[in-house]
Formats: sequence, C-alpha cells, structure tokens
Amino acid sequence: MKTHKFPEDFIWGVATSAQQIEGAYDEGGRGESIWDRFAAIPGRISDGSNANRACDHYHLWRGDVELMKWLGIGAYRFSISWPRILPHGSGKINEAGLDFYDSLVDALLKAGIKPFVTLYHWDLPQKLQDHGGWVSRDTAKAFIEYTAAVTDRLGDRVADWTTHNEPWCIANLSYEEGEHAPGHRDPAEALSAAHHVMLSHGWAVEEIRRRVPGSRAGIVLNLVPVEPASGSGKDHEAARWFDGKFNRWYLDPIFRGSYPEDAIRDRVARGHLANAELPFLKVGDLDIISVPIDFLGINYYSRVIMKAEQNSGAVEKKGAPSEELTDMGWEVYPEGLYKLLSRVSRDYDPKNIYITENGAAYSDGPDESGRIRDERRVEYFRGHIESVHRAVSDGIRLKGYFAWSLLDNFEWAHGYTKRFGLYWVDYDSLRRIPKDSAFYYREVIESNSV
Ligand code: FCB
Repeated sequence: MKTHKFPEDFIWGVATSAQQIEGAYDEGGRGESIWDRFAAIPGRISDGSNANRACDHYHLWRGDVELMKWLGIGAYRFSISWPRILPHGSGKINEAGLDFYDSLVDALLKAGIKPFVTLYHWDLPQKLQDHGGWVSRDTAKAFIEYTAAVTDRLGDRVADWTTHNEPWCIANLSYEEGEHAPGHRDPAEALSAAHHVMLSHGWAVEEIRRRVPGSRAGIVLNLVPVEPASGSGKDHEAARWFDGKFNRWYLDPIFRGSYPEDAIRDRVARGHLANAELPFLKVGDLDIISVPIDFLGINYYSRVIMKAEQNSGAVEKKGAPSEELTDMGWEVYPEGLYKLLSRVSRDYDPKNIYITENGAAYSDGPDESGRIRDERRVEYFRGHIESVHRAVSDGIRLKGYFAWSLLDNFEWAHGYTKRFGLYWVDYDSLRRIPKDSAFYYREVIESNSV
C-alpha cells in the first residue's frame, strides 16, 4: 500500500462536546440545559437515559488529557457548557464553571495540545429556552454576553475559537424535526432560529476579535454532498432542493451575505414563510452574518442521495445503494468527503478549512482478551483520511482533521446506544479502553501519513 505524507504543520486532533461527556449536571454551580430537560421527557432518548453522569469527564478530565497525550494529538476540540458559565443564560457569571475550563486549558497546553474551543454545542441554558430559545433574537444577544465571559477568561491562552457547532442541527433538527431539544416541530420557528444562530455567530466573531487580538474565529457546519439517484431532471431538481435547504441555507449567508433564492421560494411555497421578505431579517443582519472568518469547520459523516417521488412530485431521501452502513444507518462513503471539500472550496473559497468531526458508530466491545477489534472503524478512518490527503494534495487549504470522538459518549437522542469513541467507555465503572482504532489513529499521527 502506498503511503501518503501530510504537510509538517497539518493538525491532528480529536473532538468532544460538553453535554456528551462531562456529566456533573448539578455540580459546580451549573444551571439546567435544554438537554437535561429534554432527556427527562419519556420517549425522547431511545434508551431512556440522560447525560447527568455521561463519561464523568468533569471529574476524570485529568486522565482524559493523558489519553490524548498517548494518542499524540496536536489539538483538542471541545465545547464549553454555557449553563456552567451563565447558569441562567445571562446575568451573573459562575466563576467555578470558568475555573473548570481554565484548568483544562492549562493541562492541555502543558501536554503540548492546542485547545480549539467551541462556544456552543447545543446545551442551551433552559432559562433562555423558557423565553423562546433560538427563535428569540434575545438569545443571540445573550450569546455575546456568554462569549465575552469565556473569552475574557481563556483568551490569554486559547487562540482558536468556534462560535457554533452545526447550525442546521441547532435550528432544523431541534425546532423543525423535533428530534433534538427542545423537540419542536415548526418550520417557521426553525428558520427564525437558524437566522438568530447565524446572527449570533457574526456578532461573536467580532466580539472574539475585539477581546482576543490575534485569535482565529470560525464556525462549524455539518455539510453533505447531495447526489441525484439517477440522471433524470427530476432527481437533479430534488438534489438541488435538498442542497439548498441543508447546505446553501447556511453557506450562502456566511460566505455571500444572502439566503439562496430558490430555497426561499420553496419555503414560501410550502407555507413556512408568508413571503420572501424574511420576517426575522433586520437591516444589516446579513453584513454581520457574513463577517469574514478565519476558518470553516466541516463535520462530515456521509452523503445524501435524492430521488423525486413518482406520484406526489415530492422528494425523499433515498437510502444508500451500498450495503456498508454504520450503526447510525449512515453509508460509509469516503469519496464524499473529497467531493464535498472540492465543492466547498470551489464555490465558497474559505480561507482555511478543518475537518472538525469525522467518525463512525460501531458497537464493537471488548473480546475475551479485553481487546476491542473495531476493524470497521479503522477502515472508516483510513478511507476518510485518504480523502483528506487527496484534498490537501489538490491544494485545498485544509489544515487539520479531528476524529469524532475521543470517547464513547451520550449520543443525543440515541443515548448511549451509539458508540463513536476511539476509547470504549464502560458506563458502570467509567473505565476507558483504547480500541484498535485508537492504536491506528496514533500511528497515523506519529507517522503523519496514511
Ligand atoms: C454531530 C454532532 C456530534 C455527534 C456526531 C455523531 O452531528 O456534532 O455531537 O453527535 O454528530
């Protein structure tokens, strides 16, 4: 097998998020998050679990930094829990919450690992949800207060800042599809939420730059390459429709300062918007949203194939033709990562790109000898890292790759049933055991090649 070398300064990392690993939901002055509230509603989390304890990273973080050292990563992407910092969303700062991240950042730096901080990875303070959550413009304002509190404390040591993780999930999955907290099903709400998330992103980028001179600020989007199921014009239209509502609805405002017109027309036709004048849009908003960013983070897991439906003319997602699916039911499609990077680079030309998440859920656990032979995950990583290499060789400004995730963790509405970790977590003892994929990733990092 041919080996492919990466540039010397290529960054290898792992990613996690606060709500998924920290636990300690009622310790250190932390306020309630929308996921605490949501998980308490019967039927919302598939295994009836919650994230109250999760991986207990809040207490075990020192050991977790050791795991990262062993892997040899150069950067760790993690998120800050807003309700730890501002238990009510705004107002009084909880210094104990900041202390936790302060110590973590120090330990990372000491270990030679760069902290990549994400400000928002879905754990909105419940108090803000009580006042409308992201549907309300006030939440965007509160986000700036929160951004200020965090950057003031960590800005002397953290240079890489992400405002939001996956606005599509924050808005559409949470307010339109009902799958994520707060579990609403209202398309009009989702569009308004999406706008306020992006508005708060733009404001936060300016706030970060003001408070942390020399820092780098960006956003993380979950993007998918969308392909028509056949060469037919109808299937092409269906693919373009999905791309508009999923990818371009976020890429266009951020990189071009406008919402995609075809997608607006579609939302009007469906009655999700009264007309093309977006009711939540105020003069100047799009200038704020399109403030230049230092990097775009892309989370990539799979592709989407679209097929126009025969009778109704409606469009649906068609299952992947390949039989290779992860436990999430997502097709393993490494080529899609290359295609996506080429497309984003060509159409939007970001200054820098990171793959901020990529990984696979497989349930493989310890065998009789205690070893975790997760070959499918190893193959998943190998294929995707090869695609990353191909993109870098093409001259795409891709500067780093973060594996999702360091640990098995609380996978949102799937509870603990989906395992994405490089480390297996025994949820009784909380012991972490490296899977074969952890050994594999360690080799990739060490040799800086695939
Ligand atoms: C992404 C999320 C992350 C994790 C992975 C599997 O959408 O950002 O928290 O749930 O999917």
